[in-house]
Amino acid sequence: MNASDMFPEDPKHLLDSSNKPSKPTIFVKELSEKDRHRIMKHFLGLEESDRLLRFGTYLPDAMVEKYVDGIDFSRDKVFGVISHSFNAVGVGHLAYAPRSEDDEHSNKDKVAEFGVSVSGNARGKGIGSKLFERGAIHCRNDDVDTLYMHCLSSNQTMIHIAKKAGMEIHRAYGEADAYLKLMPADAASVLKEAMQEQAAAIDYSIKANTRAAAKWLRHLPGIRGKSK
Ligand SMILES: CC(C)(COP(=O)(O)OP(=O)(O)OC[C@H]1O[C@@H](n2cnc3c(N)ncnc32)[C@H](O)[C@@H]1OP(=O)(O)O)[C@@H](O)C(=O)NCCC(=O)NCCS
Repeated sequence: MNASDMFPEDPKHLLDSSNKPSKPTIFVKELSEKDRHRIMKHFLGLEESDRLLRFGTYLPDAMVEKYVDGIDFSRDKVFGVISHSFNAVGVGHLAYAPRSEDDEHSNKDKVAEFGVSVSGNARGKGIGSKLFERGAIHCRNDDVDTLYMHCLSSNQTMIHIAKKAGMEIHRAYGEADAYLKLMPADAASVLKEAMQEQAAAIDYSIKANTRAAAKWLRHLPGIRGKSK
């Protein structure tokens, strides 16, 4: 997969009225059971070093498979950014857990921890930040007041994203624990998330239908091409 896989045209050629390149819109969609194999493909496509950054340890394929198989879509939320070829190029996992008794940040019954990864060739386009924003607004709308994130202290990119989002970061023993206090939900936050999801759902079904049509065409006699 390469950048043109994600954006049909070279973004460098898309100039706005001020002659600056306009950034393509990033649609963040809530993923479900039917996307599990796409999520699996995304994680198995991460290099060893990225798995270390994402999970805090080198995860072999078998452990990655176990992790993805274990995602409980009825309890947690998984958000994804889907490419034109219908692959997940970014995945954010919002895992909920009951608040522990010694948690001094949260007043709610449950807290959330966010983990995110973006495929190597789709980085630096704002996908990681958008996934993080979506995770945060979802927590807000789900009556969670504290979002946690755990990463290695050496993960400068993630720490940059966390700081940009206003997270409080504590570094110790090569690891960084970050938390973000969230405002209570209001009409604007609920509407914002609903509109984002609706736009992403439309984008998702267009890409799904385009892919299905391309597959169908490839099976017509006289049309050659390889299936993805
Ligand atoms: C961390 C990760 C998700 C970021 O994804 P991404 O789509 O490239 O992120 P974005 O494009 O939204 O933002 C990257 C930001 O970091 C900045 N950045 C990039 N490299 C950096 C570095 N070495 N030091 C500081 N900032 C850096 C970019 O300038 C950009 O900032 P800006 O939005 O203010 O311009 C991606 O690199 C990844 O998947 N890494 C492996 C897994 C991982 O580390 N997960 C996090 C632990 S849960």
